[in-house]
Amino acid sequence: MKDLKNIRDQFPVLNQKINGYDLVYFDNGATSQKPLSVIESISNYYKASNANIHRGVHTLSRTATELFEKARKTVADHFKVKNDQQIIFTAGTTDSINLVVNGLSKNYLQKGDEIILSSYEHHSNILAWQLWAEENGGKLKVIPLLEDQSLDYSKLEELINQKTKLIAIAHVSNTLGVITDLEKIKVLAKKNNIAVLVDGAQSAPHMPVDLEKLDVDFFVCSAHKMYGPTGIGVLYLSEKWLKDLQVSKPGGGTIKTVTFEKTEYAENALRFEPGTPHIAGAIGFAAAIDFMNAVGMQTIFEHEHELVQYAQQKMSEIPEVIVYGKSNNKAGVISFNVKNNHPFDVGTLMDKYGIAVRTGHHCTQPLMQCLNIQGTVRISFAIYNTKSEVDFFIEKLKKVITMLN
Ligand code: ALA
Repeated sequence: MKDLKNIRDQFPVLNQKINGYDLVYFDNGATSQKPLSVIESISNYYKASNANIHRGVHTLSRTATELFEKARKTVADHFKVKNDQQIIFTAGTTDSINLVVNGLSKNYLQKGDEIILSSYEHHSNILAWQLWAEENGGKLKVIPLLEDQSLDYSKLEELINQKTKLIAIAHVSNTLGVITDLEKIKVLAKKNNIAVLVDGAQSAPHMPVDLEKLDVDFFVCSAHKMYGPTGIGVLYLSEKWLKDLQVSKPGGGTIKTVTFEKTEYAENALRFEPGTPHIAGAIGFAAAIDFMNAVGMQTIFEHEHELVQYAQQKMSEIPEVIVYGKSNNKAGVISFNVKNNHPFDVGTLMDKYGIAVRTGHHCTQPLMQCLNIQGTVRISFAIYNTKSEVDFFIEKLKKVITMLN
């Protein structure tokens, strides 16, 4: 294990008291904190290199363009993508999914087509497909859950038919932490010639992701959950879709030539990046990736997995606590409830001790309906979290339970 103290010291925001207690930040699934290297890369960019990109012949514009394109290369290398043009910078996961849905609806998705989702999708990987289905007589089908809240893959084959065009699925459930078995999905998708979109919002921050090996059509994620800035993320397109995905968000920068009669669009990543992009965000994202790689993605995964095992063991000893997502194949997330109590009450009381947790439906209302609950309390880890923070959390959770009952 890397020197945790040294890692923690790189995050100034962690060094503060909330309500008189040392901050315990367990809401990393919502957004992670940012190391100094990321904060400084953004501030340095504005101090020394700010200019618009891909447009100027002047030195500053060329420098900014180089930094932006270097960031694209950093992201591509991180995800083992050889052609960096397959990495599109977007505003984040939601924006990436919308680009795919709107692009596919122009020439791939036809009236009456079907799309398969999982029971634990985040709303962002439901709503745009649902809107498309409502407007085009399409249909959404859902892979059900097993008792342990992992997916019932045995049901997937029954959901597939001639009309199935796409499977859109979370790599890791943001609410349960359960890791999806993408191999099982891919075998059936390839056999039936179905495209696959993987929502990596909760996998990319927590585990190694090799897109060459993963070999899916689309992969999306957000920088802000990966120690990077908000407002920037990635849409990865396979070689096929870099050519075939239709432009749905046109604008300056996406083109080769324009006349009033017709526009020819660029053939590379710029085709999908209209307007002035989030240049500082891309630079900050690259710094975040450098940070993660300096620690090591496998190290991050193992550290968080250890915290999950440790916390779950301690929580299983508290009779009032119900943990959801019982599968052992989990990333750094635990969702739970205190019997007969509302998650908001638990979360609000935890905050009194400086412990930041998320409460509610976590943008997965259909999952809440499957589980027959209104919401959960969710703790989600990052590399800077420690076992002693878990101990403090368990101590205060017991206290909160006593207060509530
Ligand atoms: N999607 C984010 C979460 O799961 C905001 O908290």
